[in-house]
Order: sequence, then structure tokens, then C-alpha cells
Amino acid sequence: MSLRHAKITAVSHYVPERRVSNKDLEKIIDTSDQWIFERTGIRERRVAEKGQATSDLATIAAKRLCEKRGLDPAELDLIIVATVTPDMFFPSSACLVQTKIGAKKAWGFDLSGACSGFLYALATGAQFVATGSHEKVLIIGADVMTSIIDFKDRATCVLFGDGAGAVLLEPAEDGECGIIDFILRSDGTGGQYLYMPGGGSLNPSSQETVEKKMHYVHQDGRAVFKFAVRGMADISQEILAKHRLSTRDLKLYIPHQANLRIIKAAVEKMDLDDSQVAVNIDRYANTTAGTIPICLSEAAESKQITKNDYILMASFGAGFTWGSLLARWEI
Ligand SMILES: CC(C)(COP(=O)(O)OP(=O)(O)OC[C@H]1O[C@@H](n2cnc3c(N)ncnc32)[C@H](O)[C@@H]1OP(=O)(O)O)[C@@H](O)C(=O)NCCC(=O)NCCS
Repeated sequence: MSLRHAKITAVSHYVPERRVSNKDLEKIIDTSDQWIFERTGIRERRVAEKGQATSDLATIAAKRLCEKRGLDPAELDLIIVATVTPDMFFPSSACLVQTKIGAKKAWGFDLSGACSGFLYALATGAQFVATGSHEKVLIIGADVMTSIIDFKDRATCVLFGDGAGAVLLEPAEDGECGIIDFILRSDGTGGQYLYMPGGGSLNPSSQETVEKKMHYVHQDGRAVFKFAVRGMADISQEILAKHRLSTRDLKLYIPHQANLRIIKAAVEKMDLDDSQVAVNIDRYANTTAGTIPICLSEAAESKQITKNDYILMASFGAGFTWGSLLARWEI
């Protein structure tokens, strides 16, 4: 069976209105704007309103996407929502989005890949298009990280924000490449360095889990940092080498936005020019599954990428999970 290529035919994003600056955080924890900016590159993040859940952010991003493409949501075949902060364990956020946007024909599911969730979902969705079984696949990366962050823990709460991005996958036309290839990996031995211990079947929610703050993100920042630089740079170089491309061929490198120092170290290893690298961590912090599609959406809006440009996305995250995805921009 010869497979067809999937291509991205529209991209959009949504971030909540409310901005929380480093200065605002200075008022609630022992930190400083200078420390946060120098160590992470973050200046502010967006925070969802009370009652505004992941599916709400995802729904706005999805509606914007359909408007851009001039698509009736009823034409969608499949919805995949990458998230670690679903509205609830079940029903899935994909089902909630499906009903909120009126995608009557679509089936869908959530995918848990942490900060690599969007790339995992994009690669997964592309397979449904490639086999010919699905024509229109909606991929969303969305997280309300502030719902699982301890705002008394200065080592984690300064790092994250809320946001959502969405892309539409459709079959590529003859002569178009669209999504060329991906490499995805995971290594469960890294699970101990970044996790949320409470609320699952191992430690069901109880007064004790709440008192022990097990419903919040726990992290060994230094271990994650080291892994992230090496993992992201290596997997990016691997996919370029596989396709006999060099970093010079890339119009835009879109790395997961967790820490500007991680991005800079990876970019230095890869010998990329700053002008080739998408960065918006200063405005949104780490939105987990949201970072890459939000960057992509902003790059497309500003025409930083145009038809035929090579783009390379790369991620790392809890699991550990990491990956790279090479595409030719076809819009
Ligand atoms: C979290 C991170 C920014 C910490 O930066 P760092 O340079 O490694 O800093 P350290 O953890 O060594 O801490 C240095 C000092 O700053 C302090 N500190 C930590 N957070 C602080 C904050 N928000 N404000 C002020 N001081 C802070 C620490 O308590 C420590 O103080 P000490 O030396 O007196 O113990 C960094 O490790 C990181 O970004 N790691 C990756 C995290 C990540 O990306 N996670 C998501 C992955 S998808």
C-alpha cells in the first residue's frame, strides 16, 4: 500500500487574557523578576480564569482554526487532544471539544505525552491521514498548567503558563511534502524527575494526598535541564542527517519552550542562527503541550514561514518523552 503525505492546512492558537508578570509573582513568593528572567527567559505568562478548563482553551483554538480554513466542524473526522491537564479523567477533553464545536462526525481521544504531547499527537494524526482512512484530523495541544502548580513552590510555579494551539491535518496534494518524517522516543527511567504523584490509581485523591501536595507538579529541575538539552539537540540532528539536510536548510526551528537557556544550549549545539529559532517563552512561559503549536501559529501569522519552507519541531518532557518532526510548510 503506498501511503500519502499529511500536511498542515491551518494553524491557530488561544491564550487566556490574564497576564501574570514576574513582578506579580514577587508579591506572592520569594523570587525576583531578575532571577526568573535570567534563569528562564520568562517575563510573563497567561493564566486561565477560574472555571476556564483545558477544553475551553482548546475549543477557542479549534473554532479559530475552522474559521481560518473555512471548514464546518461537522466535516472533521478525528480530534486528538494532547494534554496532561484534561478537564477531568473522563470523559476525554477530545469528547468535550467535539461537542463544544459541533464536530458531529468526529471521534477522538486524549493523548498523554506531557511536553512532547503535541508532537506525539501530530505524528499519530498524520498516520490516519497517510493510510487514507481519514481526511480531516484536528490536532490540539492544550494545557492549563496553573491547575496543577503549587504557587507556594518558587522552583516550579514561575515556569509554567496556560495556552492552546491547534492544527488541521489533511492529505497533501501531488508534489507536496507536508509532514516528511518524525522521530519519537520515551524513556521511563526519567519518570522520577518530573511527575504528578497524586490523583491517579496509585495515590487516589484523599485528604492525605492533598496535605502532602501530591496533586502538584514535582520536579528535579537540574536533571530535567541536562536531559532536555542533549535530548532535543540530538534528536533534531538525527532527523536532519536522516534526510541529508543541514541546519542551513531550515527556515524555522520550533523547540519546546521550557527555558530559554535550554533552547540556547540546544541551538548552539546545532549551530543554528538565532533568526532561525522560534521563541515566545518570554510571553507565555511553558504551556506544556501548547508551546509548539502556539509558536507555529505565531510564525505563520507573521509570515515568518511561507510555502515550501523547511521547519523542524522538537520537544522533550516528562516521561521522559522527546521527539522531532520535520515538515515542509505548504500553506
Ligand atoms: C528550574 C530551573 C529554572 C532552576 O534553575 P537552576 O539554575 O538549575 O537553579 P537551581 O535549581 O540550581 O537553584 C539555584 C538557587 O535558586 C533558588 N531558586 C529556585 N527557584 C527560584 C525562584 N523562582 N526565585 C528565586 N530563587 C529560586 C534555589 O532555591 C537555589 O537556591 P540555593 O542555591 O540557595 O539552594 C532549571 O533547573 C530548569 O529550568 N530546569 C528545567 C525545568 C523544565 O524545563 N521543566 C519542564 C520540562 S518540560
